[in-house]
Amino acid sequence: MKFLFFLLQLLLVQFVHSQVNFTYNGFKHADLSCDGDAYLRSDGIMAITNDKPKLIGHAYYPSALQFMPNQNKGNKSSVVTFSTNFVFSINPKYPEIGGHGLTFVLLSTKQPQECRLNQYLGLPNDTSMETYSTRALAVEFDVVQNLEFMDINDNHVGIDISSLISNISKPAAYFIGNTTMSINLKSGSPFHAWIDYNNQEMLLNVTVAPLGILKPQKPLITLPIDLSTVINEYMYIGFTASTGLLSASHNILGWSFSFGGKAQDLDPSDLPSLDKSVKVIHSKGFIVGISLATVTLVILIVLGATHIIHHFRNEDDIMEDWEVEYGARRFKYSDLVAATRGFGEKHLIGSGGFGRVYKGVIPDTGLEVAIKRIAQDSRQGMREFVAEITSMGRLRHRNLVQLHGWCRRQDELHLIYDYVPNGSLDHLLFENPQQKKKLLTWEKRYNILVGVAQALLYLHEECDQIVVHRDVKPSNVLIDADLNAKLGDFGLARTYDHGLHPQTTHIVGTLGYLAPELTKTGKATTRTDVYGYGALMLELVSGRRPIEPQKNPDELVLVDWVRDLHSRGKILHAVDPTLDEYNQYEAEVVLSLGLLCSHPLADHRPSMRCVVQVLLGDASIPQLPFDIHQEAAGVITDYSMIYDKSCNPPSDGASSSQSTSFTGFDKKLVGTQVSRATF
Ligand SMILES: *[C@@H]1O[C@H](CO)[C@@H](O)[C@H](O)[C@H]1NC(C)=O
Ligand SMILES: *[C@@H]1O[C@H](CO)[C@@H](O)[C@H](O)[C@H]1NC(C)=O
Ligand SMILES: *[C@@H]1O[C@H](CO)[C@@H](O)[C@H](O)[C@H]1NC(C)=O
Ligand SMILES: *[C@@H]1O[C@H](CO)[C@@H](O)[C@H](O)[C@H]1NC(C)=O
Ligand SMILES: *[C@@H]1O[C@H](CO)[C@@H](O)[C@H](O)[C@H]1NC(C)=O
Ligand SMILES: *[C@@H]1O[C@H](CO)[C@@H](O)[C@H](O)[C@H]1NC(C)=O
Repeated sequence: MKFLFFLLQLLLVQFVHSQVNFTYNGFKHADLSCDGDAYLRSDGIMAITNDKPKLIGHAYYPSALQFMPNQNKGNKSSVVTFSTNFVFSINPKYPEIGGHGLTFVLLSTKQPQECRLNQYLGLPNDTSMETYSTRALAVEFDVVQNLEFMDINDNHVGIDISSLISNISKPAAYFIGNTTMSINLKSGSPFHAWIDYNNQEMLLNVTVAPLGILKPQKPLITLPIDLSTVINEYMYIGFTASTGLLSASHNILGWSFSFGGKAQDLDPSDLPSLDKSVKVIHSKGFIVGISLATVTLVILIVLGATHIIHHFRNEDDIMEDWEVEYGARRFKYSDLVAATRGFGEKHLIGSGGFGRVYKGVIPDTGLEVAIKRIAQDSRQGMREFVAEITSMGRLRHRNLVQLHGWCRRQDELHLIYDYVPNGSLDHLLFENPQQKKKLLTWEKRYNILVGVAQALLYLHEECDQIVVHRDVKPSNVLIDADLNAKLGDFGLARTYDHGLHPQTTHIVGTLGYLAPELTKTGKATTRTDVYGYGALMLELVSGRRPIEPQKNPDELVLVDWVRDLHSRGKILHAVDPTLDEYNQYEAEVVLSLGLLCSHPLADHRPSMRCVVQVLLGDASIPQLPFDIHQEAAGVITDYSMIYDKSCNPPSDGASSSQSTSFTGFDKKLVGTQVSRATF
């Protein structure tokens, strides 16, 4: 017995070190403990997770390290000086949607309980961390903005002490002299990170830079902290990462650690190399920007600002000078209150990202209307906005929801539209299976697609200004009693005179309908509308949403899935299984056209004129290869040739030929932007 005890002690001593220095340029011969989904690859890369969904991985130095060898000595921190640096890469399956990040962690146990995936980065849940049953000090390299943890953006570095709410965080960047160079953590490229703690200064520094750059002088983060208050005497060190439904592979290429001084730097030429080729080809196919969180934030801000006031005061109907200009279309607030019985819940027919919608009957005229309330917190922006909105009132097309007028009351704007009885396409398609089956037959779906296409063609080419809708999606398509489509919600749109060059940027829209270039340039164009329309086409034919997180990874993103089916000659597998009958030829046309419209490269998308011509059978669908490999290699460069042959020139002479609308006409439009910061 005594002997056993002695042996145990010996083992314990063996596994506890205070003076450890190690350097791994690659992990080929490394002795590390991996658990969960982490493993050491034969090429020497330490994979914390691969890009499968719902994984958690941990990799630690095998023994606990003694961070506080001589407690209570004078007034300096009893945590010894330490230093580490490592090279990592985060490679999301869908780079622009992101994945989840990874951490470098000091953990008080090797078997933390209740580790969670998704946004929890593979760390134990916050409850257990608060009780200090598990203590953790993590440096996170996070690529998702979680409002829950008050993350600053979707590309940040932070220090987390026993909580996923960072004590300090900064957008990922490094400094050259006084210049800030930002970096994109989810680019899949390798980055070098340095973490240093000095027990005299009691500063914890974090520095990150692209691999190959010498350690920048100035750290990204400096946190003054006495670590002895937040860690135990013995801590395990290592890495954690997790994936959720959106996945990313998290790799560590090299790692060096030292107590007492600067850790030896890693040698880039000794590190195993990441083979990115497979990845790049896959990700080319589909890129969606703006994180879901950002969209949610915008929605929350707008909704949060919306408040309902039941009593109306006299001042409401006093117009400011500038409002008189638009007076003709101005409704009285009292009429709206009467029409909706004080904006009662019974009259609420919807609420979306940009306000609540009420149904009402205007007392004098008996006009059935839908009233949209939008909170607008800047009076100045209001003026511009009203001007813009009222100019929309001049737009008339049978497939557009007609705007009758507007009403401003303090900081609230009310837009009065035609009431459209069957609600939104989104609602019909996803929320009411019986109605969907009854109403959304193949014929009707086709008709709806033609209607929306004609509305967009009108906005893009046929009215006296170019109007970019900016938010084409099923929830903005209303269905009237005869099941005709009416495109609505110009709250996000903004008009431009033909030929005007608009400037700056503000992205608003919805994940899944946003064209990739929009997320890079922030410039909405007719081409970005075409992209949204393409997503809508695929959605209406397949009866599923553009991104369905509960689907397995191959089917997660609708456009990728349909493209894959197309390349295997099985495009009709994408047709909504709840459709009893459909026209195979038409379905093939619509799906192929949907893929074309959703092309990641803007120049390769057809114009709405071309789309309408194809849908009406006036032109044949351009036969295009969907071979992403070829596109990546630049084999196909000039698509306009193909479109020229397929689509006829417009008959009205508004733009002289199809090729003009592809090149000259649209060049003017590049950069048609929208909206101010409050929207
Ligand atoms: C303790 O702090 C004082 C000043 O705050 C300093 O003069 C002294 O050198 C410190 N002692 C140690 C052991 O760091
Ligand atoms: C965290 O873990 C504890 C057990 O350690 C569990 O009771 C609790 O429900 C977990 N919290 C969350 C939010 O999952
Ligand atoms: C770090 O954050 C945690 C949780 O917010 C808090 O309890 C702790 O006091 C913070 N520590 C420091 C040193 O700021
Ligand atoms: C950087 O900024 C500091 C203070 O703002 C200044 O003193 C220094 O000269 C600047 N260095 C360079 C290289 O511009
Ligand atoms: C941390 O950074 C600060 C500058 O922000 C520097 O003065 C300090 O020496 C650094 N400490 C370590 C341990 O690198
Ligand atoms: C570890 O490295 C530091 C600085 O590089 C050095 O001062 C220390 O002696 C080393 N310790 C061991 C055990 O090699």
